[in-house]
Amino acid sequence: MSNIPKPKHFLTTQDWSQNELSQLLEQASRYKANPISDALRNKTVALVFFNPSLRTRTSFEVGVFQMGGHAVVLSPGKDAWPIEIEPGMVMDGDAEEHIIEAAKVLSRYCDVIAVRAFPKFQNWLVDRQDKVLSAFAEYASVPVVNMETIVHPCQELALMQTIQEHLGKPQKRKFLLTWTYHPQPLNTAVANSALLIASKFGMDITLLCPTEDYLLDERYMQAARDNIDEYGGSFKTTYDIEEAYTGAEFVYTKSWGALASFGNWAAEKPVRDRYKHFIVNEEKMALTDNAFFSHCLPARRNIKMTDAVMDADYCLAIQEAENRLHVQKALLDHLINGAA
Ligand code: CP
Repeated sequence: MSNIPKPKHFLTTQDWSQNELSQLLEQASRYKANPISDALRNKTVALVFFNPSLRTRTSFEVGVFQMGGHAVVLSPGKDAWPIEIEPGMVMDGDAEEHIIEAAKVLSRYCDVIAVRAFPKFQNWLVDRQDKVLSAFAEYASVPVVNMETIVHPCQELALMQTIQEHLGKPQKRKFLLTWTYHPQPLNTAVANSALLIASKFGMDITLLCPTEDYLLDERYMQAARDNIDEYGGSFKTTYDIEEAYTGAEFVYTKSWGALASFGNWAAEKPVRDRYKHFIVNEEKMALTDNAFFSHCLPARRNIKMTDAVMDADYCLAIQEAENRLHVQKALLDHLINGAA
């Protein structure tokens, strides 16, 4: 047994208090006002991508550069060796090294390891264990940051910064999280995360989805209820579009595959195709209380939301994407230097 203390990771916002997250958001605002610093001078960050990215990769690389540090991007199986995750394997397949060595070696080179590892979309009971991120967190001796697995906590921070910039205090403000259509089943991570962060800041949350098959994993539904108990606000689910939009002050949309059909997507497709009318459009937005709208991006226009909604003044998706840069800088500063 090692006596070396475990580093503080950023795997899910549920491990962090509202106060800790608020301090990160305040520091993010300072970085937004003054982007250049030497807070990461001589520091290095490994960005490990098992899946593609535009915003996450760019915002982390640029953010580290703006703080005087250096980021190394690795894509296992592409420009880095394929990695085995399961313990105790006879490694006679494609993987050339085990995550135990990968995490320990990167810890010798880098001050933070950030990881993106989406679900495999075959078996939710396996995917919900978040094995890649958990293994990095177990074997790394430096802080590990979740760049999206089954939650997307960096996106949560950017969303909350955006909400605060436009609504002020989020407590008791009406937040609608609506499922929207997409031709393929997508990760539930951002939807899970939207529930976590909105409830962590005591918002009045409505979750709108087509049927109970599209409800989110009970782990996150319960976490939202627990957060509401601790921080105030409310949480309800509905399948009624008009009821959900009426009076909303912030509309957040995401598409996700039904957990009830996880891994059986051919069977789910005709079901999902019945709900194309969940698209966010001007008629639905007109039911709201002059709501702002946002999406984590990437977004298929005129599938998830109309051009008119994406191009409206109330659409904050670009601002939320920009805020990824600021919140991640605050996070790295905190994890490496203990700042904020
Ligand atoms: N929102 C987000 O994480 O974007 P990328 O998938 O492009 O990184």
